Amino acid sequence: MQAWIANEQDVRLSEVPEPTLKGGGVLVEVLAAHVPAYTNAVVRGNRGGLPVPLVLGPSCVGRVLAVAPDVFHVEPGDIVLDTALLDAGGGDEVLVGWVGLGGSGAGSARTDRMRAVWRDGVFAEKALCAKETLVKLPGAETYPDPARLAFLPWLCIAATGLHAAAPVAGRDVAVVGATGQLGGAAVLTALAEGAATVTAVGRNEEALARLAALGPRVRTHRLTGDRADDAAGIGPVDIAVDTLGATPSAAATMAAYDSLRVRGTLVLVGGVRHDLTVPYGDLMHRRLTLRGSWMSDDRTVTTVWQLVRSGALDLSVVELVTAGLDDPAAALGLAERTTGLGFVALVP
Ligand SMILES: NC(=O)c1ccc[n+]([C@@H]2O[C@H](COP(=O)([O-])OP(=O)(O)OC[C@H]3O[C@@H](n4cnc5c(N)ncnc54)[C@H](OP(=O)(O)O)[C@@H]3O)[C@@H](O)[C@H]2O)c1
Repeated sequence: MQAWIANEQDVRLSEVPEPTLKGGGVLVEVLAAHVPAYTNAVVRGNRGGLPVPLVLGPSCVGRVLAVAPDVFHVEPGDIVLDTALLDAGGGDEVLVGWVGLGGSGAGSARTDRMRAVWRDGVFAEKALCAKETLVKLPGAETYPDPARLAFLPWLCIAATGLHAAAPVAGRDVAVVGATGQLGGAAVLTALAEGAATVTAVGRNEEALARLAALGPRVRTHRLTGDRADDAAGIGPVDIAVDTLGATPSAAATMAAYDSLRVRGTLVLVGGVRHDLTVPYGDLMHRRLTLRGSWMSDDRTVTTVWQLVRSGALDLSVVELVTAGLDDPAAALGLAERTTGLGFVALVP
């Protein structure tokens, strides 16, 4: 079969043997896989170590072809979401086929063993997935546009972040970095879950305009770079979700912190690589909560899928750009340029 193999510095289309079933494994036909906008940065090694060489790709929507004898929660013919997250407990978590380790992020002898057994990802015609990474999507067999479901993993990551500050219904939410894919996913999820208002915050004016067009509950704030001005433009809100990429400073994140109402919650979901200076007395007197959120859990996957299936979360507002396996470099470039309520789905 054909697959994208990541090496030290690049990704190449290669002919590789089809994966064979092993204990705890599920063989899936990859229907569509989201190519994250920052995949080029991942391949260049700017986001942590990849255990190269490997089949790249963190998550996909697939059809189950075969299951190992010890797999009971899915069966051939099921449509499933692969979340990539393999969790051994105690902070030892890996993303199969991708960068990122749970816990302290440093990894351990156990995560090394996990990555040795479950190494390959999903940017391929077929994938052998650890059973723990798969959640069944009942009824997805009849979803009219399966490639669009490749956006589910980002929606689920965003929803898991929002749920860390639950309840969402009836509350004012801000998404800082709303112009990115994770942020756009957070805006859509917050609207679907009944937020009173959603303030979409980012730099890209065109992306902000698209978000504003989602409906009257959406407000926008264009980041100025000045913390006080941005805080005033964002808030006051009950929940702020930070989905920013690698920014040069923590100013926008701290503006989100400043924008919180008393008893508000700031959830960190993005890729900011700076320490936050949080004033002890302020956090205490305003009774604020600071939460982190990483990847998604099975219950949230089911909730988000039901929102999509019911039409409460309408995926037709997201621009879908498809790419095949034939030219990885072109697809990664396209993914980098396709953000702001748009995403690239690899359809092998
Ligand atoms: N916690 C988790 O489980 C999890 C899971 C997946 C991803 N992530 C992280 O989430 C981050 C965002 O992912 P994504 O897919 O949404 O990426 P993306 O589509 O590339 O979006 C990046 C966002 O960051 C903003 N941004 C980038 N540089 C900026 C700067 N200098 N100043 C202000 N804003 C800046 C962009 O704003 P403009 O477009 O307006 O310029 C955009 O809103 C990634 O870094 C990733 O590491 C976390």
